[in-house]
Amino acid sequence: MSFRHLIDFDDLSRREWEDIYARAEQIMDHPEEYLDACRGKLEASLFFEPSTRTNFSFQTAMLRLGGTVFGFADPRSSSTAKGETLKDTIKMVSAYSDVIVMRNPREGAAKAASLYSEVPVINAGDGGHMHPTQTMADLTTITRLRGSVDGISIGLCGDLKNGRTVHSLIKALSKFDDIKFYLISPRELAIPDYMRAFMQENHMWYTEVTGLEAVIPLLDVLYMTRIQRERFIDPLEYERNKGVYVLSRRKLERAKPKMMVLHPLPRVDEISVDVDDDPRAAYFEQARFGMYARMALLMDLANQGHRKPDPVEIGTKPVCSNPNCITQTEGGYLPPLVKTVGGVECCAYCDKALR
Ligand code: CP
Repeated sequence: MSFRHLIDFDDLSRREWEDIYARAEQIMDHPEEYLDACRGKLEASLFFEPSTRTNFSFQTAMLRLGGTVFGFADPRSSSTAKGETLKDTIKMVSAYSDVIVMRNPREGAAKAASLYSEVPVINAGDGGHMHPTQTMADLTTITRLRGSVDGISIGLCGDLKNGRTVHSLIKALSKFDDIKFYLISPRELAIPDYMRAFMQENHMWYTEVTGLEAVIPLLDVLYMTRIQRERFIDPLEYERNKGVYVLSRRKLERAKPKMMVLHPLPRVDEISVDVDDDPRAAYFEQARFGMYARMALLMDLANQGHRKPDPVEIGTKPVCSNPNCITQTEGGYLPPLVKTVGGVECCAYCDKALR
């Protein structure tokens, strides 16, 4: 295994993902063999943002492997509320734990945390940026229920601008063959430029459309997403777009009989409850599969041991203009990291192009 932290699905090769998936299947089929796989290990669960599935599935994953969990689900109960930096929080928590699972509203927060941690950091969602372990749940579901991921036509529908699960899933699917993407969103909620640059750089087939009904007959997988109200700076933009896509049983009549309906959840109104009993609805199973994928991941990362991180340069100012980037709040010390995507210089925390 070549990765120490899981910040972005790009940290994994396809082979590494396949090894994790194979172990997740083994755990599903023979859970009794894994009761001690993380015995004595401690997972720090740092949720600076609300969560049901990711938080609880990571906690139950560690408990099912024989390990223990501590942490918070509300940052107001930690010294963050007194003004402690992310760096100091991570330095302390990594001294107490064997693995850190962190969700944070700031894009690039997990990357920033990884610079200062003695133990592996798992990105459990960083703002509207990435959510790689949700992608593990998604790929596990497609593989387990369909047999393989290669060759699918997938519709990604909803808030593709702010939907971190969509960004991570696109990155992951770049490692598979013959994937066709139908990107279904209102124009103002289309995928960010850095994701479009990523798809072009990786020669991925995609088309951007605004209507769901015209493309639904073409899809093997329909991945619905919520309009991410908490990410909108302008409340009127949310009001304009809420409720724009609603998958109903009637709309499903035009879909392939075996098309799979996925959703990272939580849903608001974008899938009618009358779809829940359709055999194509796989979203609750998807959330359950996520726990097994996270168990397989924790077995690798929680058993890696402590390692002092390399010293990093002290930054002096934000390098990125993205108002949601971690450098906007922690930029006084974070090093100004830059990477190139599609020939464009981007912030290495949040991926936004530097201007
Ligand atoms: N899919 C997902 O991340 O759900 P939660 O926000 O409930 O963790």
